[in-house]
Amino acid sequence: MINGSTKLICLIGQPVEHSFSPSIHNCLFEKYDINSKYMCFDVDKKSLKEAVNAMKVLKIKGANVTVPHKVEIMNYLDEIDINAKLIGAVNTIKNDNGRLIGYNTDGMGFVNSVLGKGYKIEGKNVMILGAGGAARSIAVEIANNRAKSIEIRNRSIDKANNISNTIKENFKSSVKTGNINITKEDLENIDILINTTSLGLSPKVDQIPIDETIKVDKDILVCDIVYNPKETRFLKWAKENNLDTLGGIDMLINQALEAFYIWTGVRPDREDLFEVEELRF
Ligand code: ATR
Repeated sequence: MINGSTKLICLIGQPVEHSFSPSIHNCLFEKYDINSKYMCFDVDKKSLKEAVNAMKVLKIKGANVTVPHKVEIMNYLDEIDINAKLIGAVNTIKNDNGRLIGYNTDGMGFVNSVLGKGYKIEGKNVMILGAGGAARSIAVEIANNRAKSIEIRNRSIDKANNISNTIKENFKSSVKTGNINITKEDLENIDILINTTSLGLSPKVDQIPIDETIKVDKDILVCDIVYNPKETRFLKWAKENNLDTLGGIDMLINQALEAFYIWTGVRPDREDLFEVEELRF
């Protein structure tokens, strides 16, 4: 039911039609009896500043931000959370009585997925494949959760070095970088291995960021942030090696739950989303 007191939370991006966020958040608003609705707005780059200003004028309570606005939008906010600043991108905004505060819940979503599966991050050795925006948000949150070491492997080494410098300057985790060609020996001390590259993403489902002939005989939690398909070729490789896996849908759900908490102060359960068909878990 929409009435005179209904508040609005929105997604700002382009395109927005295929987003799962309206299904997730409208389901949660109903479950927790919160008089709010979530809607998507397709916003051009040239209109971004006006769109942000409209949030103040219309007293829109909060927003998610997606491609291509996650970096640019930082210029128009009143305050930016420290980790979002280090990540260099914002995916969530809270309208705090007219002050717009930017956060980034992507990396938090990943961390919560790992912790939710019963694994620790503190003291662990983590390897990240890829060095784009997703890798950066994950690296910052993993360092924030006191990983022992973080190794960033990427095709373009300068991007890996850039993330490494941010971690070195702000956290205690040790960091190193290298190329994307992983060997069996490289995995010997790794506890958590994460694919953040787009390799394996539909329709190029045959791509994989690792040499499939590598056989692993130790415990590694293998994670893929790609959620379409749900089981990537990378995760299949992990399962063939009897390794525990974490798929991208988990991170997607958890970044949304974290944003919901920022807006409402309510910490929903993953199980609350059982009936959301798009998530099919
Ligand atoms: P996101 O914001 O989702 O992280 P992105 O910033 O475009 O997306 O990053 C994509 C990542 O996938 C990058 O690490 C990219 O490597 P480069 O930095 O060298 O471009 C990686 N990637 C994409 N296609 C790849 C390929 N064919 N081989 C290896 N890495 C690839």
